Amino acid sequence: MVKICCIGAGYVGGPTMAVIAVKCPAIEVVVVDISKPRIDAWNSDKLPIYEPGLDEVVKACRGKNLFFSTDVEKHVAEADIIFVSVNTPTKTRGLGAGKAADLTYWESAARMIADVSKSDKIVVEKSTVPVKTAEAIEKILTHNSKGINYQILSNPEFLAEGTAIEDLFKPDRVLIGGRETPEGRKAVQALKEVYAHWVPEENIITTNLWSAELSKLAAIGKDSRIGPKFLNASVGFGGSCFQKDILNLVYICECNGLPEVANYWKQVIKINDYQKSRFVNRVVSSMFNTVSGKKVAILGFAFKKDTGDTRETPAIDVCKGLLGDKAHVSIYDPEVTEDQIQRDLAMNKFDWDHPMHLQPASPSAIKQVSVVWDAYEATKGAHAVCILTEWNQFKELDYQKIFDNMQKPAFIFDGRNVVDAEKLRGIGFIVYSIGKPLDAWLKDMPAIA
Ligand code: UDX
Ligand code: ADP
Repeated sequence: MVKICCIGAGYVGGPTMAVIAVKCPAIEVVVVDISKPRIDAWNSDKLPIYEPGLDEVVKACRGKNLFFSTDVEKHVAEADIIFVSVNTPTKTRGLGAGKAADLTYWESAARMIADVSKSDKIVVEKSTVPVKTAEAIEKILTHNSKGINYQILSNPEFLAEGTAIEDLFKPDRVLIGGRETPEGRKAVQALKEVYAHWVPEENIITTNLWSAELSKLAAIGKDSRIGPKFLNASVGFGGSCFQKDILNLVYICECNGLPEVANYWKQVIKINDYQKSRFVNRVVSSMFNTVSGKKVAILGFAFKKDTGDTRETPAIDVCKGLLGDKAHVSIYDPEVTEDQIQRDLAMNKFDWDHPMHLQPASPSAIKQVSVVWDAYEATKGAHAVCILTEWNQFKELDYQKIFDNMQKPAFIFDGRNVVDAEKLRGIGFIVYSIGKPLDAWLKDMPAIA
C-alpha cells in the first residue's frame, strides 16, 4: 500500500489530499500540520476552510484512508510520497524584500524530512514557490541523506479557491516535473499512477523540474481559463498566489539581468493597486468629496466568491482607503468572520502569510468598522453600498427594500459588475459599474487624481 503524507493542512494541502483519498481508496493519506487548532478543525464537523463540496469529500473518507494529525515526524517517516504545501510568504526584510519568497518554512520542512526519514522518499513540491526551489531542496536533502535516496518532484497546483474540488476532480492538466534520470523517471511515474486513478492519461503532462516550476508562473495554453472565462472586470485581483507569483517573476527576471521584463511584471501589480485606489477615489468624489462620518456598506470581503479566504483581498485596500477618509464601514460577507476582518484591517502587508502563532497579537477592534451577518443590516441607513465580492446572493437581494432604508442620494459602487445597473437606476440608485459608461451624476463629479 502506498502511503502519502502531506505537510501543511491549508487551502492547498487539505482539499488536494481529500480528493486523492476519495479517488484512491487503496492509498493511505495523512495530512499533518504544526497547528493543533487547524488539525482539530479538520477532524471536526466545522472544517477550517470553506470550499463547495469539500465537506462531502472529507466525510466520505476521513477515518478510512484520510487522516489529519499533528504527529508530523511519525507520518513523514512512514510515507513513501511526501507532499509539501507549507506557507511561502513574500520576504518582508533583507535581500529581495517585498518580492522574493521567504522559504523559511519550506527549508525547515525539508530539514525535518532529512532528520526523520529511514527509507527512500519522493518529495513533491506543491506550495507556490520560485523557480529553482526544487534544486535548493534537493541540495538540503542530499547533503543530509544518510544514504537515503530522495527524488524531488514539482507538481504545481492550478486549483482555484472556490472551485477547488471541481478543479481537482476534473483538472485541465496535471503537471509533474522530475529529474531526467532513471530514478527520477520512476518517481514521476509513481506520482503519475496516483493521479491516473481519475485523470485521463493524456491530461497528465510530465517534464523536467525547472519546466514544471516555470509553467506554474507562465501557465501553458492547456488552462481553460486562458480566454474569456477569466476576463471579468473587477475592483482588483486578490488571493494568496497571484501577486506572489508575479513578484516571483519580477525577482527571477531581476536575478537574470532582465530589468525591463521585471518592470513589466511590476507594472501589473502597480496597475492592480491603482485599480483599488481608483475605486476608492470614485466613491469619495461621487459623494461630494467626503465620506467622513458617512456609513458605507461593504458587501463581500473575501477575495472572490465561494471562499472565506481574505488573503490579499482587494476589500482590505478599499476599506482602509475609506477608513482613511473617516468613513464608517459596515461589512457583510457570508463566509468571513468578524475576527478575521478586524485582523485583516489591522495587519501590515505580507504579515498574513506567517503561521498563526507568529502573527501579531489581535489588536483592539477598529471602532469605525462593524461586521454584521446580513446585507440588509449592513445597508440600513447607509449613504453608499460597495460590492467587493461577486457572491451570487448579491444578485438576488431586494434592492427596493435596500433603497428605501438608505440615505439619499443612494449610491451603489459595483466592484464586480454583479447587479443589473439599469434596474437599480430605475429604483433611484446612482450606480457605478466597473468599466461601464458613467451616470450623469458621476460624470459631474470627476474622480480625484
Ligand atoms: C490562483 C490561480 O488561478 C491558480 O491557478 C493558482 O494555482 C493559485 O492562484 P486563486 O488564488 O484561487 O487561484 O484565484 P483566481 O480564481 O485565480 O482569482 C484571483 C483573483 O483575480 C480573484 O481576486 C478574482 O476575483 C480575480 N479575478 C479573476 C478577476 O478579477 N477577474 C477574472 O476574470 C478572474
Ligand atoms: P496554502 O494556501 O498554500 O495551502 P496555508 O497557509 O493555507 O497555505 O497552509 C499552510 C499550512 O502549512 C499552515 O497550516 C501551516 O501551519 C503549515 N505549516 C507551515 N510550516 C509547517 C511545518 N514545518 N510542518 C507542518 N506544517 C507546517
